[in-house]
Amino acid sequence: MAKKNHLPGFATRAIHIGQEADEETGAVAPPIYPTSTYAQQEIGKHKGYEYARVSNPTRTRLEQNLAALEGGIAAPVFSSGMAAINAVVTMLKAGDHVVCGNNLYGGTPRLFNQVWSDFGLEFTYVDTAEAKNVERAIRKNTQLVYVETPTNPLMALTDIRAVAAVCRAKKVDLVVDNTFMSPYFQRPIELGADMVIHSTTKFLNGHSDGLGGVVVCTRQDQVEKLAFLQKAAGAILSPFECWLVLRGVKTLAARMEQHDRSGRIVADFLVRHKKVKKVFYPGLPDHPQHELAKRQMSGFGSMISFETGSLSNANKMLRRVRICSLGESLGGVETLISHPATMTHSSYGEKGRKAIGITDGMVRISVGIEDVEDIIEDLDQALAAI
Ligand SMILES: Cc1ncc(COP(=O)(O)O)c(C=O)c1O
Repeated sequence: MAKKNHLPGFATRAIHIGQEADEETGAVAPPIYPTSTYAQQEIGKHKGYEYARVSNPTRTRLEQNLAALEGGIAAPVFSSGMAAINAVVTMLKAGDHVVCGNNLYGGTPRLFNQVWSDFGLEFTYVDTAEAKNVERAIRKNTQLVYVETPTNPLMALTDIRAVAAVCRAKKVDLVVDNTFMSPYFQRPIELGADMVIHSTTKFLNGHSDGLGGVVVCTRQDQVEKLAFLQKAAGAILSPFECWLVLRGVKTLAARMEQHDRSGRIVADFLVRHKKVKKVFYPGLPDHPQHELAKRQMSGFGSMISFETGSLSNANKMLRRVRICSLGESLGGVETLISHPATMTHSSYGEKGRKAIGITDGMVRISVGIEDVEDIIEDLDQALAAI
C-alpha cells in the first residue's frame, strides 16, 4: 500500500489521474465531449470552456493524466507525434539553432530540414551518445538540444543526466522524445530534461488505433506558449482520440511489463539464431551502453532491431511473417515488424542511412503482448526463408 503523503504509484496514477468518475452521472469511464463550442451565460461568463480548439474537457483529462505520468506540470496534446514536435520547433524564431541527435525517427529530421530550415532555423546533428559532442555543437544561438533515447532503430542511448547537465550550464533546453520507453520505463524530467515528447500513437495509446502527440512541460512559460500554439495553429487532438489514449493508458503499466518480458525473450532468441548477424537491444549484456540502460531505464522495453545481411534477406523473411504484422509504427499490443531503410528512415536517403549505420538488411521489431512462444515460432519460420 502506498503510504500517506506519497504520490500514488505509476499504475494508480495512470488509472485515476484525469480519469475521475464523471461528476454529473458517476460514469466511471470519462465521457467524450464531441462539441465544437460551449454555451456561455453572458459576455465573458462561462464554465471554463469557450471553443474546442482552445480546450475540451476530455482533452483536459488526458493532459492532466500524461503530465502526472511523466512528472511534468502540464502536457498539451496534439494531433500526432509530428504535430507535437512541430509545436516545439514553432516555439523558436528565425536564427535559432537546435542541436539534434543524428539518429532520430526519420520524420523528425524531415520536418527540421525540409520545412523549418526554409524559415531560418538551423539544425546540427551529432552523436548524442557522448555528452561532449553535444557541448561542442552548442553555439551562442542554440536554444534546444533534441534527442531520442533509445534511438530509432539503432537502439543507441543518450545519457540524459549528462546531457541535461551540459544544457543547464549552457542555458539551453533539453527535449527528449521518450516514445520508445514510455514514462513507465524512463522519466527524462527526473533526469533533468526540460520537455518530453511522445508520439501517443505508440505505447501510450497502445492499440494501434489512433494518432496523437504530447509535449510534457516543466515550466509555466512552456505551458503558455504551447497552449497559445494549440489555439493559434490548431493541431489539437480530437476528443475521441483523447479518450482512446485515456483508455489505453489505464493498462500502460501492465502492458509495458509484458512488452519488456517478451522483448527480453525475443532478443535472446534472435541473438542465438544462426541467420541473425547482429541484434540491437539495450537489455543485452553486450550492448555497448547496457550499464547506462540499467541506470536510466527501469526496463528495456520491446523495441529490437536486427541484421539479416541484405535487403533481399530482409524481404524474404518479412514476406513470411504471419503473427507479426509487417508495417510501420510500434508500441501496439500486436507485434509489428518493419524495414527502417524503406519505411521509417527512407527520408534519410541512402547516404544518410549509411552515415549512421542503418543498413538495407536491418529489420525492426516492436514485440507485442501475444504469447511469446507464438511470436518466436513465427520469427523462426520466417527466418528459415533466408
Ligand atoms: C520516436 C518517434 N517519435 C515521433 C514519431 C512521430 O509520431 P506520429 O507518427 O504520431 O506523428 C514517431 C513515429 O513513428 C516515432 O517513432
